[in-house]
Amino acid sequence: MTSPSTTLSLVDTDPAELAVDALVIGVHSQTGSADTGGEGPGGYAGTLLLATGAESIAAAFDGRLTETLALLGATGAPGEVIKLATLGTVTAPLVVAVGLGAEPTGAAPAPETLRRAAGSVIRALAGAGRVALSLPVPDDEDGPAALRAIAEGALIGGYRFAGYKTRPQPTRRNPVAEIAVHVPDSGDVRARAEIARATVVAAAVGQTRDWVNTAPNELRPPSFAEAVATAANAAGLTVEVLDEKALADAGYGGIIAVGQGSDAPPRLVKLTYQPPAGTANGKRIALVGKGITFDTGGVSIKPAQGMWEMKSDMAGAAAVAATMIAIAELKPAVSVQAYLPMAENMPSASSYRPGDVITMFDGKRVEVLNTDAEGRMILADAIARACADGCDYLLETSTLTGGQVVALGKRVAGVMGTAEFCTRVQAAGDAVGEPAWPMPLPEDVRKGMDSDVADISQVNAGMDRAGHMLQGGVFLREFVTDGVDWAHIDIAGPSYHSGEPTGYWTKGGTAVPVRTLLHLVEEIAAEN
Ligand code: BES
Ligand code: MN
Ligand code: ZN
Repeated sequence: MTSPSTTLSLVDTDPAELAVDALVIGVHSQTGSADTGGEGPGGYAGTLLLATGAESIAAAFDGRLTETLALLGATGAPGEVIKLATLGTVTAPLVVAVGLGAEPTGAAPAPETLRRAAGSVIRALAGAGRVALSLPVPDDEDGPAALRAIAEGALIGGYRFAGYKTRPQPTRRNPVAEIAVHVPDSGDVRARAEIARATVVAAAVGQTRDWVNTAPNELRPPSFAEAVATAANAAGLTVEVLDEKALADAGYGGIIAVGQGSDAPPRLVKLTYQPPAGTANGKRIALVGKGITFDTGGVSIKPAQGMWEMKSDMAGAAAVAATMIAIAELKPAVSVQAYLPMAENMPSASSYRPGDVITMFDGKRVEVLNTDAEGRMILADAIARACADGCDYLLETSTLTGGQVVALGKRVAGVMGTAEFCTRVQAAGDAVGEPAWPMPLPEDVRKGMDSDVADISQVNAGMDRAGHMLQGGVFLREFVTDGVDWAHIDIAGPSYHSGEPTGYWTKGGTAVPVRTLLHLVEEIAAEN
């Protein structure tokens, strides 16, 4: 199931002399300066600017590179890819210009600009064996961030899901096999560390996408748990899998209720990472991810249109599992435990139903009103278990509500929890190119969830959809122990890309918020 892997390395020799199939440079559009029509044919040259890294290529073209690229249609727009046959001018047979947008005000373009450009160009070069990227990597303190972005964008952009076609597709080319990133000094320790880290991160992102993109008949709770356990064991994590009997015996009412409608029984997978002896900073992080392998809605069944995308309803669990595998390799100085509740939400004679009252893991009783609000049922149990085990920070992520997509769209995740921690999640998301926005947990929304018969109703008691992303957050808060810094990250939109490929994303799973989680774990590991 895993996609063909791309290798990543550093080079510091003259790009004009690199023996690669394609050499990538950056171009900026010059904003503000109107087309003066002075320089090249059509007068385009005045609006295009070569980015740092293109100097020796420009020299080899005797100063005519900008003009030639403009002639081929280059504008420097973000993600634009223009290929130019070099006909012996430089060693590489192809120079490829990727758009980096407007000329940066500082020394280098924003990391996300570089990440997306690297992704776009690596996608456009599918089929090539060896590609070098000579993009702006400043020789100062901004260098590592730029390099990290380029390396991540290139590797993530090179992802391809193996899929299920029985015949080879002639038009489908293999991902680029080898990528070399040009830097000022390829022996630099920090640069080498960034390449190693990007390789680990991209593997986690690819693993997440593979799991999300897998057909739902191929990935049901028992086989998903098995796949996660196998990968986690191989990474050196401690693995515990609770099957349906263990779950029932221990009182995981929410997971059992949602899972009981399917002939593929539910699971709870717990993964534990312990830092190397003597390095732990004493903090404990809990990660929780929603693992609904398919969400039909259950008895409160969903419409057929678009239901197939509910194969991605385990994107939170996939992201958390893959993040744990990356953590096992990156070895941060903090202990991390992950909880992955897995169930298939199906309508059947044994399904849970609206009106059911469920006793959850922590003893609270929940009145079910809509079986399609299944995510919070399994997550509440997993959150309660995480808190019972003990944690200082709790990060939970889930494809929880369509309300998130309505409110924030397909790119920006919704974050609810303790205010200060939500701000940290937002900052981490900004740093890695996975934007997230803090949302409130209003008391009146909680009031609307008062149940006539149980401790809380699963959604608004009148099934009013007003603020239904917030209802999800408010419900989950009930299961978090006081004093824990926590955040619920609703990724219903950003976890799955249903449009055409763009930047480093192709159709399907995006692995949001793997890079945010890793960033936060590393940040907390650095605390003392
Ligand atoms: N898995 C869905 C949420 C979802 C919607 C994810 C669109 C990705 C894209 C979730 O289980 C669900 O069905 N939520 C309901 C909640 C409602 C019943 C309170 C929804 O969004 O309508
Ligand atoms: Mn649902
Ligand atoms: Zn769901």
